[in-house]
Amino acid sequence: MAPSRPRRLQQLPPYLFVEIDRAKRVAAATGKDVINLGVGDPDQPTPKFIIERMHSAIEDPKNHRYPFDEGVPQFRRQVAEWMNKRFGVHADPDRQVLTLIGSKEGLAKLPLAVVNPGEAVLVPQPGYPVYNAAATFVGAEVHAMPLSAGTGWLPDLDAIPPAVAARARLMYLNYPNNPTGAMAPLAFYEQAVAFARRHGLVICQDAAYSELYFEQPPPSILQAPGAFELAVEVFSLSKTFNMTGWRLGFAVGNEQVLAALAQVKSNMDSGQFNAVQEAGTAALAGADRPEVRALLDVYRQRRDTLVDGLARLGWRVERPRATFYVWIRCPDGADSMTTARRLLEEANVVTIPGVGFGPAGEGYIRAALTVPAERIAEAVQRIGRVRF
Ligand SMILES: Cc1ncc(COP(=O)(O)O)c(C=O)c1O
Repeated sequence: MAPSRPRRLQQLPPYLFVEIDRAKRVAAATGKDVINLGVGDPDQPTPKFIIERMHSAIEDPKNHRYPFDEGVPQFRRQVAEWMNKRFGVHADPDRQVLTLIGSKEGLAKLPLAVVNPGEAVLVPQPGYPVYNAAATFVGAEVHAMPLSAGTGWLPDLDAIPPAVAARARLMYLNYPNNPTGAMAPLAFYEQAVAFARRHGLVICQDAAYSELYFEQPPPSILQAPGAFELAVEVFSLSKTFNMTGWRLGFAVGNEQVLAALAQVKSNMDSGQFNAVQEAGTAALAGADRPEVRALLDVYRQRRDTLVDGLARLGWRVERPRATFYVWIRCPDGADSMTTARRLLEEANVVTIPGVGFGPAGEGYIRAALTVPAERIAEAVQRIGRVRF
């Protein structure tokens, strides 16, 4: 008899993409030309200067041993330098920076470092599913903070019931936002820091998309006065440098929270390969290089192709100012599963139903700009032939 799954796994929300996944596999297996706007995984290669640094790093025997617990010192120093240059934020590389095995790893382990079973975790919805899972795994109560167009996809902190705020220990935020593409102004971070101080919360701001922006660069929560007292911000090299497979991210912020997270990590993992951190050091040092910044023009062109094309067809869609996601209103009378299923079956275009990001995502689908503009134009043409 197969062992039954423990409650923490049974408690996770049902996997809503089963039907879409099945239809996608059937379409591909029958030789259909499927355009996949589902996954947020960059299609471009990692820039050459990073790969070249990896070649030399991998030859160096000092990189062949166990990584340092809190990360390679040069990488952490480069992070601190980048934070200063990019945001004007001063972080001590020895105490306020921690290397992560991709940002997901830090986001997922953070509740183990700061939350007791039975305490509440505030999670944005629609949102990246990892926050909910991570809070569930530590036996916390998950309290969804609904995001909606009316508030610019920012949570309404005043709507959090005082009793929930009193039991809450951690609040996740994510700007620029997946799946909505929204950005948060510094004034919102200031309010969030004030709220967290009032209620004794830790804030974890997920900045995985901080460098994928089309207009003004997004601020860091650590620019808000007092943020270092209670917040950590989690960054990723995945999307900025097309390095999703390399698994490298970092957390910056409150020293005690990072020390607790480092303690969790030292009991559960042994850090990221030093050579990857050395290549990541080169990546961050080269963040302003033309081949890195050129990526934004690629995504901008794709975004405009999709948004303008769908708008011409009468779809209601906002032009995101950041991320490589477009959050699209479903046609009247169609829910997100139906919309995504029909686009797949009738246009061979894969999108993600908004409800997969939690019930508050209902009424929308998400498209990722991770295929060439010509393919996006083709997807728009095909979508135009589907009658809702
Ligand atoms: C909002 C958000 N945070 C974090 C991640 C994880 O990124 P990584 O673990 O590759 O750094 C993703 C990946 O899609 C994401 O969408």
